[in-house]
Amino acid sequence: TLPQACDFTVFGGTGDLALRKILPALYHRDLEGHLPPDTRIIGVSRSEIDDDGYRAEVRAGLETHLAPEHLDPDAVERLLGRLHHLCLDSGSGEGWHLLHDLLKDRPHADETVRVFYLAVAPRLFGPTCARLAEIDVVDERARVVMEKPIGHDLASAREVNDAVGEVFEERQIFRIDHYLGKESVQNLLVTRFANTFLEPLWSSRWVDHVQITVAETVGVGSRGGYYDHAGALRDMVQNHLLQLLCLVAMEPPTYVGRENVRDEKLKVLQALKPLSPEDVDRDTVRGQYAAGLTAEGPVPSYADDLAGPETAGAPDSWTETFVALKAEVRNWRWAGVPFYLRTGKRMDRRVSEIVVVFKEPPHAMFPGSEGVTTANRLHICVQPDEGMRLHLTAKEPGPGGIRLRPVSLDLSYADAFDQRSPEAYERLLMDVIRGNPTLFMRRDEVEAAWSWVEPVLARWADSPERPRRYPAGTPGPYAAAALLERDGRAWQETDQ
Ligand code: BG6
Repeated sequence: TLPQACDFTVFGGTGDLALRKILPALYHRDLEGHLPPDTRIIGVSRSEIDDDGYRAEVRAGLETHLAPEHLDPDAVERLLGRLHHLCLDSGSGEGWHLLHDLLKDRPHADETVRVFYLAVAPRLFGPTCARLAEIDVVDERARVVMEKPIGHDLASAREVNDAVGEVFEERQIFRIDHYLGKESVQNLLVTRFANTFLEPLWSSRWVDHVQITVAETVGVGSRGGYYDHAGALRDMVQNHLLQLLCLVAMEPPTYVGRENVRDEKLKVLQALKPLSPEDVDRDTVRGQYAAGLTAEGPVPSYADDLAGPETAGAPDSWTETFVALKAEVRNWRWAGVPFYLRTGKRMDRRVSEIVVVFKEPPHAMFPGSEGVTTANRLHICVQPDEGMRLHLTAKEPGPGGIRLRPVSLDLSYADAFDQRSPEAYERLLMDVIRGNPTLFMRRDEVEAAWSWVEPVLARWADSPERPRRYPAGTPGPYAAAALLERDGRAWQETDQ
């Protein structure tokens, strides 16, 4: 239920994430009258600006990041009126009494839901929580929101979780994976479990394999400092791709509640076949983009992106910007069904998609159809064109013999629902305010995901082979195609 009053504190309040995602999301919810009436938004940063200075920054941020048709002058003023700014250093003890005073000095302070959003470097998660406890602003209604990366590996993820867990109970901790807030990702659950026709087909009996692709056209941009220590496996696979895999593979929960969806996802993560060093060598591909030609024109290599225009000489980084791998869920439903995952930056297209490829019909009965591929495929497009496409085989019209032709049934959400699809953060932030953790990652899920990717990281770290280069603007290294070709399969691209 929606509380009456909320103090939403954003650490890193002047940072990119706050200005680009968090504040625009709060703006949209406010515009539609969904924020608790008595909401204050407190930006915390090291910038020495006052409330008005912060309002000016946020106004500029909204004007940059929102579509002009969504900028309603009254709603902008209302949001700006909710803003405060505090200058304090999360790393040191200074200035924290200001936050204490601000949070305590308000009507109904004891009934106010306090949200602490940690849009700061992960090394500050633990210390920030400890300070919040010291200034005595963490009560049972308080919630903390963490952005990934939660750790760098299993041990460091545990450390962060332990440190935050000293101050907040698990039910108060909201670990964001923004993919779970995407409309189309939530719809995956509805598609699977609010329809009857798919479920009987959703297993190794009828499914040949599953492909999950998250392809981006952007490069590393200005995030090289973070990204070069992370790489695509940590940045995308450990969280977003494995979460998508969980939603595809999980068993139906008895109802959609705060723990049981997460329980089912956890079981999938625990059922993933651990990858031995030989499996890593055989079933994973890592790549790094080289200079190439994209729709925006020529773009530099990853190393040149890292170096930036001022630095002479690109660093020799072995960080992967592309990953393809083959995973297996070892349970009754999925035994023997490969799940092929791939993600990369600077690829030829921006698309996030799940493709469920069904088995060929057991018998080719139409004369001349031997060897014609008639396997049905369900494409679930997460972005950019949200929707679903079911590939079928039909008879080509004509009086002659029966000629088979691939056709598709298309569902586009934009056409079916004539309304704006909210951004992932809008849904997730409202869930935090309402106290609903269903779409957030529980500690055990994050740790199970790390346990699975760790052997890959370890093997790659030992490997004398550098990531394979692929020219920007292409579908990634050839080895990713070979990974499927070896199994007699091919990546299904959207427009095929
Ligand atoms: C983030 C990653 O979690 O997801 C980024 O850190 C990536 O590297 C982004 O670009 C992709 O998100 P989306 O919503 O644009 O697919």
